[in-house]
Amino acid sequence: MRNFSFHNPTQIHFGEGQIAKLGQEIPADSRVLVTHGGGSIFQNGVWALVEAALAGFAVSRFAGIEANPQFDTLLRAMEQARRDRCDFVLAIGGGSVIDASKFIAAALCHAGDPLELLTGTPIQAALPLGCVLTLAATGSESNPHGVITHVERQAKLPFSSPLLYPRFAILDPCTTFSLPARQTGNGVVDAFVHTIEQYLTYPADAPLQDRYAEGLLQTLIEEGPKALANPQDYNARANLMWCATQALNGLLGCGVPQDWATHMIGHELTALYHIDHAQTLAVVLPALLAERREAKWSKLLQYAERVWHLREGSEAARIDAAIAATQTFFTAMGVPTRLSEHGLDADVIPQVLAQLERHRMTALGEGCDIDLATSERILLRAL
Ligand code: NZQ
Ligand code: ZN
Repeated sequence: MRNFSFHNPTQIHFGEGQIAKLGQEIPADSRVLVTHGGGSIFQNGVWALVEAALAGFAVSRFAGIEANPQFDTLLRAMEQARRDRCDFVLAIGGGSVIDASKFIAAALCHAGDPLELLTGTPIQAALPLGCVLTLAATGSESNPHGVITHVERQAKLPFSSPLLYPRFAILDPCTTFSLPARQTGNGVVDAFVHTIEQYLTYPADAPLQDRYAEGLLQTLIEEGPKALANPQDYNARANLMWCATQALNGLLGCGVPQDWATHMIGHELTALYHIDHAQTLAVVLPALLAERREAKWSKLLQYAERVWHLREGSEAARIDAAIAATQTFFTAMGVPTRLSEHGLDADVIPQVLAQLERHRMTALGEGCDIDLATSERILLRAL
């Protein structure tokens, strides 16, 4: 096992009714910038609960943070926060709203051009941030990362700082009852792929991390279809929410090699063709596993046996079957696994490769050996 340091400071309040704890988590006298997306929080009653819990606080509500949050929108949010002298940010939503709020919290404390924080300038300070999660998927609710879309650059720009861990995250599974099937499927696939990317590399003598990952994967496989079939199944929603948080709160990846190539290629597909984040992953991951089967041979066999219970046949056949089972699972969650299902053909590949090169994504994977030629083969397999 590799050396690591681990600290996750986010206070989690999990379960039905926990939104009422907002008032005790936000310092008294705070002037709160509340951020959210479109209309979902009004339709599903989440806003009413938040509003009641925030009685007594000065609140400035910023609406309209879009999926794959855009830089320009966040500049407007910053303007409003400055005007209203906000000193606390409360995000209500999924990964997009939480990521956006992390950026706003940091940019409000940055003297220079906010864009600098997305192009390498370290984050030195940030307003305190909390969140009410309404979509189980990204893990943003208890991690220090974010991704912002810059439309002119056709890029999803990542940023990260320990200062951006939310102070608290309220995880009430009831908030996710109203998710459209597409977002439920997306969330399960995103959490699944986050887990795979910290697991399916090469053996690292880290059996606990392996079994933790296998537990998350199996739980997602069991609970995902239940939530699709019955959106108001509290236990399924609760299990999915807790899985998604743990898939990317840092613990799973401690001491083990990681391969984030699926995400890096996927980000380019979202930036160029506006495909939902998780839908890009469902396209890239099976193709990547097939292309990288030699490098991942041993872990693929372990994955086949422990996650999919595939014990018969040759090693190659078990690996094929595990990749096929992964694809079938994504399909069952309503998420397509082919570029062609998104109306894309081989003509787009040069553009994706050019973007990868522009963003210096030319040595991806656990061995830093997924170069542009390998990415091209992955994309060809994904057609
Ligand atoms: O805007 P509203 O009306 O709220 O609708 C949203 C949005 O359209 C809707 N939604 C959310 N909660 C709902 C709901 N609809 C009904 N009921 C609810 N309870 O869902 C739509 C999608 O929301 P979004 O926040 O975009 O989804 P997700 O959580 O999948 O976040 C995706 C973003 O997170 C980034 C992605 O790149 C993408 O920008 N990621 C962030 C990561 C991180 N911070 O660690 C890691 C991930 O890999 C990912 O890159
Ligand atoms: Zn993701």
